Amino acid sequence: MIRAHDGALTVSEIKGKTHHGEMTIDQIAEIQPGMATLMKETGDRFTQAYYAAKGGNWKLAAHHLNQIRAAFRAAKTTRPKYAEDLSAYDKDYLLPIFEAVHNQNWSEFEIAFRRGEEGSDVYHDKRGYSHIKYVLPKEPPSNLYLGPPENFKRDGTAR
Ligand code: HEM
Repeated sequence: MIRAHDGALTVSEIKGKTHHGEMTIDQIAEIQPGMATLMKETGDRFTQAYYAAKGGNWKLAAHHLNQIRAAFRAAKTTRPKYAEDLSAYDKDYLLPIFEAVHNQNWSEFEIAFRRGEEGSDVYHDKRGYSHIKYVLPKEPPSNLYLGPPENFKRDGTAR
């Protein structure tokens, strides 16, 4: 910890500079992503993981699930009051989806995924967000190739 003695700067006086201006550490902390941003990311990645697994691109499904974990890690730091719930969701709902991806097993994936949807309702209800319900979009909203990577051709036929 930096102490204000001998003219040293206190932490809140330390500033980061860009060519646009200066920010204190507190201001930098204040603008880190909270639940609205990280949950949007979570919902989008959840959808992308579903369609990647359905298309047979298991590595891409794993990538999206890993990004949900990254969003959860960020949320635990910026909004620590949710840390316990996020760890529990990871263990009870995300892990079985990861296992299905590891096994490349679509029917196992779909069961675990549907449980994961219900799990999001459980935590939204618990936290007073009963009006927020994740629903899977009918079409894959992806600009990434969803089939097995070895089938990909960059000749305009890939969909
Ligand atoms: C422990 C698990 C979870 C907790 C504690 C949690 C908590 C929250 C909270 C507090 C919000 C409101 C954010 C705000 O606007 O301030 C929110 C929104 C949201 N959550 Fe979750 N959530 C969890 C899991 C999930 C999962 C697994 C999904 C996806 C399947 C999901 C999808 C969403 C979506 C789409 C929103 C709305 C984001 C937006 O567009 O504003 N959540 N969640």
